[in-house]
Amino acid sequence: MEVIVKPTYDEVSKLAAGMIAEFLRCKPRAVLGFATGSTPLGTYKELIRLHREEGLDFSQAVTFNLDEYIGLPKDNDQSYHYFMWENLFKHINVLEANVHIPDGMSEDLHRHCLEYEEEIFDHGGLDVQLLGIGSNGHIAFNEPGSSLGSRTRIKTLDEKTRQDNARFFKSIDEVPRYCLTMGIGTILEAEKLILLANGANKAEAVQKTVEGPITASVPASAIQLHPNATVIVDKAASGKLTRKYPGAPAMLDL
Ligand code: GLP
Repeated sequence: MEVIVKPTYDEVSKLAAGMIAEFLRCKPRAVLGFATGSTPLGTYKELIRLHREEGLDFSQAVTFNLDEYIGLPKDNDQSYHYFMWENLFKHINVLEANVHIPDGMSEDLHRHCLEYEEEIFDHGGLDVQLLGIGSNGHIAFNEPGSSLGSRTRIKTLDEKTRQDNARFFKSIDEVPRYCLTMGIGTILEAEKLILLANGANKAEAVQKTVEGPITASVPASAIQLHPNATVIVDKAASGKLTRKYPGAPAMLDL
């Protein structure tokens, strides 16, 4: 696993966007896995800038999102559909037909999950998957205790995740209790993983992910099994790491 510590969130975002852009330039039909949450917003902003100012072309790209709440319609401003269109897709030239986000309103959620897996497979698998991390160590909505071999499925949200995400809703009572999420097994099959974290509230989860044992109690620790995973964190999120990493605060004159 490659761990890169950048001084600021802005630099984390630019590096991540640059890596995704490089993928897309080398492979215009790349299958890109995207994430939601506040962490990837800077990356999306930079991808939009690269599209507008440097002609980064998404016209042949295929996208798959990690997860979605169950019960929120696509036009609900807290749905991940809404989030992705508002914060990325409507600003770039990706084709709507090439965008895939789990449908939390599907009438047959179990079947939908199986079909989502099939669609990823039919497109040749994920080339690169962007990931954030929950303060409890979750990736996508794979909460602590999730099987490390899990596939796309229905999950119950952890209370900690509901509390963390309540800031986006009017009250915690409005935060959905269930979701659809790619599994950890699904995520680990991507060719390349890029996990981002910023802020001191992620420092403990980052330390456990990078330096702790691989355990379902910290789902993100499963990325230690991946042969091509890069973790990019800002100085605050690196605060509890005990080893030295390229660009780590201890090695830089910050
Ligand atoms: C949600 C998403 C995750 C994301 C996490 C962290 O729970 N399902 O994919 O990593 O939030 O969110 P934030 O980046 O806002 O801290």
